[in-house]
Amino acid sequence: MRTVRSVAELRAALDPERRAGRSIGLVPTMGALHEGHLSLIRRAREESGVVVVSLFVNPAQFAPAEDLSAYPRDEERDIGLARAEGADLLFAPSRDEVYPDGFVTTVVVDGLTGVLCGDSARRGPEHFAGVTTVVAKLLHMAQPDRAYFGQKDAQQAIVIRRMVRDLDMPVEIVVAPTVREADGLALSSRNAYLSPGERERAPALHRALEAADEAVMAGERSAAAVLAAARRELDEAGVEPEYLELRSASDLRPVEHVNGSTLLAVAARLGRARLIDNKVLGGTHQ
Ligand code: PAJ
Repeated sequence: MRTVRSVAELRAALDPERRAGRSIGLVPTMGALHEGHLSLIRRAREESGVVVVSLFVNPAQFAPAEDLSAYPRDEERDIGLARAEGADLLFAPSRDEVYPDGFVTTVVVDGLTGVLCGDSARRGPEHFAGVTTVVAKLLHMAQPDRAYFGQKDAQQAIVIRRMVRDLDMPVEIVVAPTVREADGLALSSRNAYLSPGERERAPALHRALEAADEAVMAGERSAAAVLAAARRELDEAGVEPEYLELRSASDLRPVEHVNGSTLLAVAARLGRARLIDNKVLGGTHQ
């Protein structure tokens, strides 16, 4: 596995592969790789001739109050993990390579980005503008056939799918299931911020999703009743959610009645960590 830092080097490495007819899979990450990221690299390895992992802690998607400098970074470790999963190229550009002097363009997906995590009382739509801008750039830089994202960040995946559709970007977006700890907590680089006590309460988010899913499987369709089932699990663990909402899994519109493609999304702050999780209810999805 080679590490490249410039767009020119990345393209020089990928052009001959593309000409030789090999398909390219891109896994965008901000590093601090864990099993969630590695599952995406493995999936890309199964489906693509060449696997590119990008590693860039994107300043544009951090809120001013969030500490960009505290985000966990360990490039040597990440290189070892990506190599062990069979990645072919690690693209680790500098901030100047991605946002050179005079950079003024923003890619905004309107409509889907002002709710849930994008509500202005939370991370705000600017967070997703930062994500779509950098992902649009990464897709143009690597020109992959497929790009891989995690269901863990459901809203992010929905927003990226819409950007690709609206802008006719020639790439297939693959969304892979959430990887969890044995007790259900979704893996996240931010779990490192949890104290032992907070870590014990954190699986309540997953239990809330499961309780809601069980209610739906038992025939409950009313949004209020399904939310109440989830809420009980959070209350029991003393976890106050930032949001707990049922929305359409395709366009994030609020729903009153749960059907086969309803997303239950939850976010909660535990100490320094802001945790998110979600589940498509009703058993037909991951
Ligand atoms: P990051 O948080 O590093 O996540 C990179 C990818 O890994 C995302 O697609 C995310 O959904 C996925 N992922 C994270 N935890 C996961 C888990 N437990 N199971 C499955 N997949 C998981 O998301 C970002 O970076 C950035 O916003 C990025 C897309 C790279 C743009 O900067």
